[in-house]
Amino acid sequence: MVSRVIPVDVFDLVIFGGTGDLARRKILPGLYRRFMAGQMVAESRIIGAARADLTDESFRQQVREAIAEFVPKARQDATAIEAFLERIHYVAIDATGTNGWAALKALMRENVVRAFYFSVAPSLFGDIAQRLSENGIADAWSRIVVEKPFGRDLASAKALNEVLAKHFNETQIYRIDHYLGKETVQNLMAVRFANILFEPLWKAEYIDHVQITVAETVGVDGRGAYYDKSGAMRDMVQNHLMQLLCLIAMEPPYHFDPDAVRDEKLKVIRALKPVTHEDIVRGQYGGGKGEKSYVVHSENPASRTESYIALKVQISNWRWQGVPFYLRTGKRLRARASEIAITFKQPPHAIFDDASGWHENVLVIRLQPNEGMNLMVMIKEPGPGGMRLMQVPLDMSFADAIDDAEDVPDAYERLIMDVIRGNQTLFMRGDEVEAAWAWTDPIIQGWEARGDKPQTYDPGSSGPEDALMLMHRDGRRWREIRE
Ligand code: BG6
Repeated sequence: MVSRVIPVDVFDLVIFGGTGDLARRKILPGLYRRFMAGQMVAESRIIGAARADLTDESFRQQVREAIAEFVPKARQDATAIEAFLERIHYVAIDATGTNGWAALKALMRENVVRAFYFSVAPSLFGDIAQRLSENGIADAWSRIVVEKPFGRDLASAKALNEVLAKHFNETQIYRIDHYLGKETVQNLMAVRFANILFEPLWKAEYIDHVQITVAETVGVDGRGAYYDKSGAMRDMVQNHLMQLLCLIAMEPPYHFDPDAVRDEKLKVIRALKPVTHEDIVRGQYGGGKGEKSYVVHSENPASRTESYIALKVQISNWRWQGVPFYLRTGKRLRARASEIAITFKQPPHAIFDDASGWHENVLVIRLQPNEGMNLMVMIKEPGPGGMRLMQVPLDMSFADAIDDAEDVPDAYERLIMDVIRGNQTLFMRGDEVEAAWAWTDPIIQGWEARGDKPQTYDPGSSGPEDALMLMHRDGRRWREIRE
């Protein structure tokens, strides 16, 4: 491809589904914050595209309201908001027809970055991609951004990849997993690969097991129809938890570069062992005491969809031989808490006696809330009377370590700016998504074939009882879920 000199920081960003929920909650407020941070140069523009018959002015009013609702009050500046709104335009478009495409083409400018955000149902990806290319709106330098869910199994993910590949090459496709945009998730790579301290210990010889928890307090109210066809395995494990696992388990890439990082993640996914049914616990939240149950929220009384899942996962390679990764995620749990805990093994020889109070070293990486890192180490309990040990945290809160935590970009802000910069490191490559589905499919097919029902758990609890057994039988226990 002939390279073209363009001012990479000037862009036209078209948001298909510009009036939708994600645009309102995340994309548009996020762009306003980046504008405030001085990252959106003056000539850049955002073009909302959706079916509704709106004018620039009425769309701007919607954006104004979205900012009022989703940007913290302290960051709302009336003059800045108006300046931001001047960069916003709107085109009414029919994704599956002919209306609006000529108007969109007429709006696009030459010699700026063109990015197209597909914030629409995956069933429209093909139609939009085709119209962008047939109408000559997308060129070889354009980028498209696609949201999850990227398929619901391997076959549908392959079909989506094929449909996009007809019009765009892989370097133009940005598949979002918003977990990769979280600061603390990227911190996993910084912690592992910018320090000499951890890497020598990062293997089966020294690590006993890893726990990955993404616990939520929210239920599926309002999105039951989508969620009921998906469930926690497709909604969270196949993408977000899988990405976390990859960042912990991957080999050091030769460089922090899109393909080097994604090649290493892909190797991890390919090395995942199939999961047998004894290593899976599925749950569904019940109701009572004024709480609505999952089946009420999903409006499907016979639903067997899981709102909780715990799995024991093993990686077949030298580094991780015999080290279980216990994954769990669920809705309506006792606290919103996401963390990764790496538990180290015992020292090879104990010089202190059993009563000394010894505990394992644990490295806890808190993703949200209270982002930070804790390394649990043993020290001597102060005072006379022999050697008694106590466990204390070497504690680092990321909020304390940086000046203004409020200005840290949210996941979407970070990822959209990476699209404009043309950096694919934090986006999933087509082969990676397919490999993740290839591992996920037999797990789901297994419980569907057996007709397994998820176990009911109380809202506000830690999940189903059986999940405790998953670790107890290995002589281990889950960490408490708490904020
Ligand atoms: C989304 C899932 O991808 O991630 C939701 O579809 C889930 O079900 C959400 O609630 C969690 O994201 P976060 O950033 O709040 O942890």
